Amino acid sequence: MWINVRIVLGVSAGMAINFLPDLIAALRAQSALVDAVMTPHACKMVSPMYVSGLTGRRTYWDEMTADAGWEIPHINLVRDASLFLAAPATANLIGKFANGIADDLVTTTFLACRAPRIVCPAMHPDMWRDPILQANVERLRQNGVVIIDPVFGQCATGDSGVGAMAPAEAIVNAVSRALGFE
Ligand SMILES: Cc1cc2nc3c(=O)[nH]c(=O)nc-3n(C[C@H](O)[C@H](O)[C@H](O)COP(=O)(O)O)c2cc1C
Repeated sequence: MWINVRIVLGVSAGMAINFLPDLIAALRAQSALVDAVMTPHACKMVSPMYVSGLTGRRTYWDEMTADAGWEIPHINLVRDASLFLAAPATANLIGKFANGIADDLVTTTFLACRAPRIVCPAMHPDMWRDPILQANVERLRQNGVVIIDPVFGQCATGDSGVGAMAPAEAIVNAVSRALGFE
């Protein structure tokens, strides 16, 4: 059980979004507060309302909404965060992270976060083995971002290979290590 842990969970539009219920339940089982932040494309796959049902907290997705008021969400959300976790992380999101692109609330919070950052890639095996994607992953590693390598699995297309998001247990163990609990 973790004490006083608040995780900012960056969610992008990969099929592994299906595994969010397991992942968020596993984080909450450790007593973590989970503040989900979604990309606009992720919001087309599942609704922020659904994700709020999983976290039990407000979900954030659009920095430019009127109700953000003067909160400056991308800074305030991560100011006291214990950790930033991107899961699932698409090839697109990894490319943006690796190149300092900050054009939505997930990428801006990632860039502004000075707590440990963990990225869980999830994509088709052909995307995962692409050298440009791998160079982006390596660049993140070089900058202290923890990458939880994807595992072997079957995609929605029926193809098999390495690219499936790591299971919730492996992600929770990595978070625990990054927080210094083991
Ligand atoms: C049904 C569907 C499933 C997708 N699954 C993945 C995936 O698992 N991994 C990935 O990198 N891209 C996947 N994509 C492509 C991304 O959604 C696309 O690159 C999108 O621009 C990502 O936006 P985001 O990174 O801002 O969320 C998928 C697209 C669709 C339509």
